Order: sequence, then structure tokens, then C-alpha cells
Amino acid sequence: MVNNEDRFKKIIAHAKEYGFVFQSSEIYDGLAATYDYGQYGVELKNNIKNYWWKSMVQYHENIVGIDAAIFMHPTTWKASGHVDAFNDPMIDNKDSKKRYRADVLVEDHIAKIEGKIQKEVKKATKRFGESFDEQQFLSTNPRVLKYQEQIESIKKRLYSSLEDERLDDVKGLIEELGIVDPVSGSRNWTEVRQFNLMFSTQLGSLSEDANKIYLRPETAQGIFVNYMNVQKTGRMKIPFGIAQMGKAFRNEIVARQFIFRMREFEQMEMQFFVRPGEELKWFEYWKEQRMKWHLGMGIPASEYRFHEHDNLAHYANAAFDIEFNFPMGFKELEGIHSRTDFDLKSHQDHSGKKIQYFDPEINESYVPYVVETSIGLDRTFLAVFSYAYTEEKLEDGSERVVLKIPPFLAPIKAAVLPLVKKDGLPEKALEIFDGLKYDYLCFYEEKDSIGKRYRRQDAIGTPYCITVDHKTLEDNTVTIRERDTMKQERVGIDKISEIIGARLKGNQ
Ligand code: GAP
Repeated sequence: MVNNEDRFKKIIAHAKEYGFVFQSSEIYDGLAATYDYGQYGVELKNNIKNYWWKSMVQYHENIVGIDAAIFMHPTTWKASGHVDAFNDPMIDNKDSKKRYRADVLVEDHIAKIEGKIQKEVKKATKRFGESFDEQQFLSTNPRVLKYQEQIESIKKRLYSSLEDERLDDVKGLIEELGIVDPVSGSRNWTEVRQFNLMFSTQLGSLSEDANKIYLRPETAQGIFVNYMNVQKTGRMKIPFGIAQMGKAFRNEIVARQFIFRMREFEQMEMQFFVRPGEELKWFEYWKEQRMKWHLGMGIPASEYRFHEHDNLAHYANAAFDIEFNFPMGFKELEGIHSRTDFDLKSHQDHSGKKIQYFDPEINESYVPYVVETSIGLDRTFLAVFSYAYTEEKLEDGSERVVLKIPPFLAPIKAAVLPLVKKDGLPEKALEIFDGLKYDYLCFYEEKDSIGKRYRRQDAIGTPYCITVDHKTLEDNTVTIRERDTMKQERVGIDKISEIIGARLKGNQ
């Protein structure tokens, strides 16, 4: 049995070995928390993007997409609150010289207490067997109640101190809880300070403050500043949405856990503009829709859970995360936020331009309210990739690693493989490849034994391998091997496209 940490290491190594994800500028020893997607990674990423774009833009008559620039007028970030409030509380350990997010140190401490509750539950399950009632146990067991009380009191103090910017109290809390540096075990902490997460640069050649611009930390603001353009030119009627995907940049204090937390990453966001007062109804709608989208990838519901935000951002009146069971545990994958009219109103104030909607149904003008769905593309990639990674022991005693990626997301849909590199088999295989390539991304390979070639395709998640042998030359049939079952079937060349196509349907 491998533990989660070992499994995660294997997943990261596999992503590199098979051309999915490389450390950025690796030949120079890499750049922290930045990654490049390789030849198969980019395909998986594009397929996820496509799945999202279709489900948002193509399948909704009232959602359109845009592609805004990464650079935006600097006032955008003043209006959005990012210049003043997009901070993380940072703390350094004086001995190890390591930097941490102070709130994450406390949250990790809370997770340890939650772990103790889980241990109690496990013990009790063993003791009481079938008659065990977990809910009753959680609400009555004195030890569990004590742990829960501790958690509540820590959370209350942490979030109220953060809210009121009492950073000295956050440090006090870290000290009182006896939190030690996870690396050195030291308690020698600096003060807690605010650290703005936006990267800035200079526009043009003058290095003056007036020319300071930012790399966008979220794609959402590109949607807000284009609200009027899209509403007018698209003659959009409320409720309607604008979707966008693209790069975002954050100078994360602690960037770790592979592509989970990066300094350059991609978001897929959709802002849904609604009548004021109707936002919570739409919030519920989008919570449900987004969960359906995740489940549409064929990953079971047990791998996902909703998490309600403990402390709401200043602009939000409701916020939930969809968390995924990553190799390092349940963590945020997507946020669904009811952002009120905060952003549009603030852009209206800062720009002096009217941002309103005239609603003919109620004969009133208003600033629309917004429900946002915001998902990290790289985190979705990690979710799909890590869930798909499977080590199998086969009947003959051998082992294989197979990526059970949902076929519609798989980088390569079919590999066309001549059994041997002679007797006209490569020519026939290439003919088949040419017949399929306009519909599916296929792969052609003639080197190595067929068994080795099958394993390589398993390792990159190719749903079908098509083998061309001597019989193919006689009767135009091939063997088609299915990735998960490894079953092989003899079929006519004219049936291949249909078989692949059937497997790709159903999820979208
Ligand atoms: N517009 C709202 C917004 O940006 P967020 O919760 O800060 O909300 C949304 O980010 C999503 O973007 C997260 O749920 C996560 O999937 C992804 N994300 C955020 N920071 C990230 C990072 N440093 N690396 C990778 N993905 C990140």
C-alpha cells in the first residue's frame, strides 16, 4: 500500500516522464512554481478547456465568450480592490528562513485536530461495528466535542483578526497554539505582515510609478470592464453570462504541490449577470450546474465536496468552493461566488461611465448583480490526471501503469501500430492513420515490440490501439485493443472510426 505522498511523487514523475508537465526552464534548474505543459499535457489541457467552453458558451443560449488582454488599465485593480486588499498575511521563520502564509499555518493546525476527530470515528466504528451511528457519535462524544470546540474557537479568532487586520493577534495565535516551522521545528517567528500578490511591471520605457501596470491576478476583471460592450453589441438580456479563459498571475508566498499552486496559471471564469435580489437563486443554480460538469468527466461524486467559505470576501454575499480529493487531500478546485454589484459599481465609480441595465420587464434601470464560477484549469488537469493514474497488477504477474483518463479528454484517441516494420504493414498502417486523422488526434509508431508500444499508450491514456498485421493486407481487418480492459477485437477498417467515436460520446 503506497501512502498519499508516495503516490503524489509517482504522479509528478509520470507527468514528466511521459511528456505531460515539465518544470519551467529546467535546463537552468527551473523556476519555482512555474511549469510547462509538454506534448501530451497541452492536448489534455486543450480538451479540458474545450469541455468547459462548450458546456458554458455553446450549450447556453445566454452565455457568450470573450478574450481580454492580460494587461489592463491600472485603475482596474484599484477599483476591484486588488491594489489595497489582495494580500496574504506572511510570516517568516527566523531560523529556517522559510516563508509561510500565517493563515495556512493555522489552518494546517486545524486540519491536525480534524484528523484527531477522524481517528476517534475510526476507533468507534471498529468498536461498535454495524450499529455505529456516526452522526450521533460526532454530536455526543465528549472528546470529539472538545476538539470541535477548539476548532471553532481557533477559526473565530483567526478570521476576525484577519478581517480587522490585527496581524499581531494572528502571530499571538500561532504562538499560543505552539505552531512550529514544519521544516525546522523552530518557534522563532517574525511579525506577521501583509504581502500583495500582484506582479507589477512598467508600461513603456519610463520606470515611474505612473506607468506601473499589473499582470492580471484573475481573468474576471476583463469581463467586468467589457460588460457594457458585450451587453450592447450582443443585445444581451439579463440574465446572461460572459465566459473567459486565460492566464492569471499571483506572487504566491508559498507555491508548492506541483501545479496546484503556481505563480502563473490559467483560469476559466464565467460571470452571470442577474437582477438584484435574484442572485441567491442563480447562485444555487450554478452550484448545481458546476458540480454536474465535474461529474460529467466520469469521476465519482465521492471525490468532490462542497465547502462553504468561513469568511466571505468583502464583495460577496455567498461563496462555496468545490473541493477535490487531490493526492494531498481535499482542496479547492473551483469557487462559486455571489459577488453582488460590487465590481460593476466600483468600475462605474472609478471610470465615471454609467454601467447599468434597463430591464424592460420591470421598467427599471439597475447595476446587475453577479454570480461567478471560477475554476483553475491547472487544478482541473491535476484532478483528472491524478485520479486517472492507476497501477495495475496483471494476471500474468506483470505490472502496468495506465492513465484511465476519460476518453473524450485523452490526449491521443487512437494509436495506429504496424505489427512489424516490413512486408507493407507500415504503409497500410499509415493509410489507416490518414483516414482517421481528420476526426481524431492519432499516433503512429513502428518502433519496439507491440507489447512495449501498448504499455506506452496505456501510460499516456490512449483509449484505443489499432494493430495492423498480415491478415489486414488480406481482408482489411485490424485488431482494436481497448485501454482499460485490454480486450482485443478483430474489426473491419471501415468500423474503426465509429468505434472510437462511440466511446467519446456521452460525457459532453
Ligand atoms: N475571480 C475569482 C477568483 O479568482 P480564486 O478562488 O482566487 O477566485 C479561482 O481563484 C480558482 O483559480 C481557484 O479555485 C483555483 O482553482 C485557481 N487558482 C487560484 N490560485 C491559483 C494558483 N496560484 N495556482 C493554480 N490555480 C489557482
